[in-house]
Amino acid sequence: MVLTTAALLLSALLALALFFVTFRRSRRRNEPPLDRGRVPWLGHALEFGRDAARFLTRMKHKHGDIFTVCVAGHYVTVLLDSNSYDDVLADKHSLDLTRYAQVLMKRIFRLRLPNLDPVSERRMVEQHFKGISLNRLCSTMQNNLNLLLASETTQNPAGWKKDGLFSFCYSLLFKAGYLTLFGTKNNNHADLTEVYEVFRQFDKLLPKLARRAVRKDEITVANSAREQLWELLCPAWFAKGAEPQSWLQTYIQHLEEQGVDPQTQRQAMLLQLWVTQGNAGPAAFWLLGFLLTHPEALRAVREELKGLQHLPLDERENTPVFNSALKETLRLTAAALITREVMHEKTVRLSDGKEYTLRHGDRLCIFPFLSPQMDPLVHHEPEKFKFDRFLNADGTKKREFFKEGLRMKYGTMPWGAGSNLCPGRSFAISALKQFVLIILTRFHLELSDFSACMPQVDPSRYGFGMLQPYGDLEIRYRLRT
Ligand code: HEM
Repeated sequence: MVLTTAALLLSALLALALFFVTFRRSRRRNEPPLDRGRVPWLGHALEFGRDAARFLTRMKHKHGDIFTVCVAGHYVTVLLDSNSYDDVLADKHSLDLTRYAQVLMKRIFRLRLPNLDPVSERRMVEQHFKGISLNRLCSTMQNNLNLLLASETTQNPAGWKKDGLFSFCYSLLFKAGYLTLFGTKNNNHADLTEVYEVFRQFDKLLPKLARRAVRKDEITVANSAREQLWELLCPAWFAKGAEPQSWLQTYIQHLEEQGVDPQTQRQAMLLQLWVTQGNAGPAAFWLLGFLLTHPEALRAVREELKGLQHLPLDERENTPVFNSALKETLRLTAAALITREVMHEKTVRLSDGKEYTLRHGDRLCIFPFLSPQMDPLVHHEPEKFKFDRFLNADGTKKREFFKEGLRMKYGTMPWGAGSNLCPGRSFAISALKQFVLIILTRFHLELSDFSACMPQVDPSRYGFGMLQPYGDLEIRYRLRT
């Protein structure tokens, strides 16, 4: 009896505390509209986690291009005026990149890097993904893709093979990317299929790990996958076998110089594995999926790529149709949320001239997927795949996009914005082009069911880079003779 009364009292106190924390906050002058949600402390966390795109679209209709919502005890200001993204993100004094990144690194990768310096780390990464280093990486990637695709068909070259398009694309690009960036003389014996499968177990649970929403049985799967991957990603092993001056060797050296212990190095390697291999495979799936379900687009891209087959890599630049189809694919399926911690009160000026104050201690989120990518005022019928959306009538690259007469800085932003811009974007574009070129010119690839539609998006993945589908699209393929 005493225990029950104490428990009831404790719950009442907790509820009161949550209520106080949530409803104590009120909107101050010049602050964005505030939407606390109905549930104390949790606020909108459940709806946000279930389907961020749907929730933020609802909030945008209610409040406009800027608003503050309560999410699991945090106040998050969401900015959806894409013309003001660059100015806001440039202010590194008021907006901190590392704090929230550290939170996610700990939740997902069990990784703590207290001396994380994103600016120097980024500089280091960038030098490996441009110029001669980039050319070398792209040509290694091309060789790896050719080898892997050849081995897919060695047993019965003339026969049809069946697969799901998502698993076909993701496994091939993962394996080729892994060999290119993590391949060393020492680890060639690692079974690539096993690495991919363990990686996928982990990747599937990633959004739940980030939201701390994993079930008990899923925790066991996530822990086991993480441990197996840590085992495979042994830095000492990689350091000896990696190409001198390669991205991998520079990264390991950088960790060592920071005094990072061997276990933390493995955890950091898993983070890098996900960052470098987690997006290209899903992007290839969406691109080929849209082409297979839009015959006119497939014809146009195949026609353009056919002329490139025998050209060296550096002469395959002029592909406006492919570039437009890829941009259109990424417009529909690249959905990273860019988050910053507000360290000092800051004023944000929107394109309409109105100014809003961001409160110290809140978070700021930018979501290019909703604006500009899916904004119906920027793109006519934004939910539809139109392979030539990024082409002018004369076939040249379309650069200008408008919203109610106002010129937009960007028509699409799949690679992020400002200091967050993906350093691997040129490598990713080249890998996707090589992959599609090989598939469309050297293989017959078709839908198992000609009337099949693209699968739905898994809505829990909004916010984590490239989207992934619910289910798959069945295909069959064989070598062209
Ligand atoms: C279609 C494929 C890809 C897309 C759409 C994409 C998109 C992005 C985006 C939006 C970010 C910023 C994320 C954030 O800060 O929250 C990012 C970061 C990053 N990307 Fe990519 N990416 C792709 C492929 C790649 C590839 C293939 C590599 C490397 C080989 C790569 C390397 C990186 C790295 C290292 C970062 C972290 C940069 C930093 O911390 O400053 N990405 N990517």
